[in-house]
Amino acid sequence: MNKAHLTIACFTLLCITENFLQASCSLVFPKKFLKGVALSTFQNGGSRHGRNNWNIFEEQKNLLGRSTIKHGHSSAKAPCFWDKAFHDIGLIKDLGCNALRFSVEWAEIEPKEGLFNQEAMDFYEHYCDELLKAGISPSITLHHFTHPDWFDELGGFEKAENIHYFVRFCKKVFERLHSKVSLWYTINEPTVFSFMGYISGWHAPGKIMSLARAGVVLGNLLKSHVSVYRALKAMDGGNSAQIGIVHQVLQAKPYFWWNPAHVLTAKILNFCFAHDCVKKFLKTGIFHYEIPGLSSLWYEDENASKSYDFIGINYYSHVIVGLGATCYPNETMTDMEYPSFPRGIYEAIKDMAELGVPLYITENGIPDQRDVNRDQFIKEYLAQVHRALADGYDVRGYFYWTLMDNFEWDRGFTIKFGLYDVNHETQERYLREGAKAYRDFFTLE
Ligand code: BGC
Repeated sequence: MNKAHLTIACFTLLCITENFLQASCSLVFPKKFLKGVALSTFQNGGSRHGRNNWNIFEEQKNLLGRSTIKHGHSSAKAPCFWDKAFHDIGLIKDLGCNALRFSVEWAEIEPKEGLFNQEAMDFYEHYCDELLKAGISPSITLHHFTHPDWFDELGGFEKAENIHYFVRFCKKVFERLHSKVSLWYTINEPTVFSFMGYISGWHAPGKIMSLARAGVVLGNLLKSHVSVYRALKAMDGGNSAQIGIVHQVLQAKPYFWWNPAHVLTAKILNFCFAHDCVKKFLKTGIFHYEIPGLSSLWYEDENASKSYDFIGINYYSHVIVGLGATCYPNETMTDMEYPSFPRGIYEAIKDMAELGVPLYITENGIPDQRDVNRDQFIKEYLAQVHRALADGYDVRGYFYWTLMDNFEWDRGFTIKFGLYDVNHETQERYLREGAKAYRDFFTLE
């Protein structure tokens, strides 16, 4: 064998080994499964023309007289979605994705009550067209924590009589985009919106321990979901559209099962803000929000249990109630107040499967600035989703949160969920080492 033969033989061996390693090191999902990334317009692009509730919140000071956003960061430095969205389609493609979940920014589309901005509508339509051309199926969130300032000034979701404004906006967007978009998410995480905005005060509108109002807002968000579902279903294209709600399945657990303070706090969190209240509403139509001795709300909506074609599950972790942000021994903390808990995503799927409709994982990701746990996180969580599929659960897609580092609400730019690292000064994007697992480990048949 001469030198050339030897080189060819070595090269062939190398390729076979590499292919073998790659094959045995990846998880194969069904061909039609959606492999996606999720993002929200505001977190990626801030505001252009319209002002929203977060712009108002960013200008406020907290009780200590400090900025409501960590280090005084501003959404104005978000990664230029409005200018770079089309370019970034290539980044999504490079990850091997066939789907994108993004939100439409209401304040941009309807900056003044009843005044619809055609340019913004054109932008989103063009965006959907380009995504489709790239083989990426667009799916739309209609409310992802933000709404126009005028809607907020009218009382936002604190008032049931405002719901019709949201329904009108949703109808406008649906009318324009239904032929290009098959999956529609009405509201993103009602429990998070009400808890963070009205109990902890970390999100807009920054109200603290406003327990009764938190319940009213949660109830109205669920009512809005049902109203939007019914309104869109009655429109042209409504029958073929898949419309659902996005719910964060979050379970609070006591650090010590024998500590009554831990147990009670976890119970209240689960009942009102985290999970049980929403699941019960979707299952039975009964909305029951109760904080013993402080607030009690009850209503029934007979349409609720027929108001979703699928459920979007956002799953990050469980929250351990103990002293400060904590986790159980043997768990690894993420950069936020919770550990990594892969088995939880399987449990969330099993739990929500009781509603009897297809499921999508609409968000799952890790805040990991140093990029030391991302690779393992991706592999472990995906393995649990794959296990759920193998066990017969009807999971149809998985969207990683998020494409690139963005404006992480009250944490500004200090939290890094992105598969792509962003230099917020130059706006350049770089694929993180740990993110390669998403590209390579998650394959479709
Ligand atoms: C929200 C996202 C947020 C993510 C990470 C979810 O609750 O939908 O907007 O960035 O969590 O904290």
